[in-house]
Amino acid sequence: MRILIAKDYDGMCQNGANLIAAQVLLKPESVLGLATGSTPCGIYDRLAGKYSAGELDFSAVRSVNLDEYVGLPPENDQSYRYFMQKNLFSRINIRPENTHVPNGLAEDIEAECRRYEQQVADYGYPDLQLLGIGLNGHIGFNEPAGDFPALTHRVALTESTINANSRFFKSLDEVPRAAITMGIGTIMRAKKILLAISGENKKEIARAAICGPVTPQVPASVLQLHPDVTVILDEAAAALL
Ligand code: GLP
Repeated sequence: MRILIAKDYDGMCQNGANLIAAQVLLKPESVLGLATGSTPCGIYDRLAGKYSAGELDFSAVRSVNLDEYVGLPPENDQSYRYFMQKNLFSRINIRPENTHVPNGLAEDIEAECRRYEQQVADYGYPDLQLLGIGLNGHIGFNEPAGDFPALTHRVALTESTINANSRFFKSLDEVPRAAITMGIGTIMRAKKILLAISGENKKEIARAAICGPVTPQVPASVLQLHPDVTVILDEAAAALL
């Protein structure tokens, strides 16, 4: 694991955007695994800036997102498809047909999970997978559990995640209770992983994920077993490392 500690959120985002930019420069047809949440927003902002400045070309890039809520249409401003359109896709020249997010409205969610896993496999898995981390150590929506789920699957969200994500919804009742997420096995097949952690409230989980035992009770701890992980943090999140 490589650990890069920046002074603050802006510095962490600069590191993240530079690493993703380097990936796209070196391999214009990269498959990027993308994440949602508040943490990557500044990274996407900087990537859009690099595109506007003529420094990056996304026309051959393909993307696969980690997860999506079950039951939210793409036009719902809390869906992850909406988030990606707003924060990144509409601001760069990636081709819409090259962007993939699980379909949370699929009638048969199990079939959608199999289809999505196949899509990621057909792309050969991400060259670079960007990850955030939940307060309970979840990556994508892989919640603490008795084992590490291998493939894309439907997951019931934990109380901790529902509460944490309720800040984006009008009320707690509106937060979806289920999601589709890449499995830990899917994520671990990415060639490189970039884990972004920011803020004082993430310092305990950052330590548990990076320095603690590898356990499915802290899903992000599995990344210790991946051969090419870079963790980018700000000083607040790195305080206990
Ligand atoms: C959501 C997403 C995760 C993300 C997490 C943390 O639950 N499914 O991919 O890492 O939130 O979000 P934030 O960066 O807002 O703390």
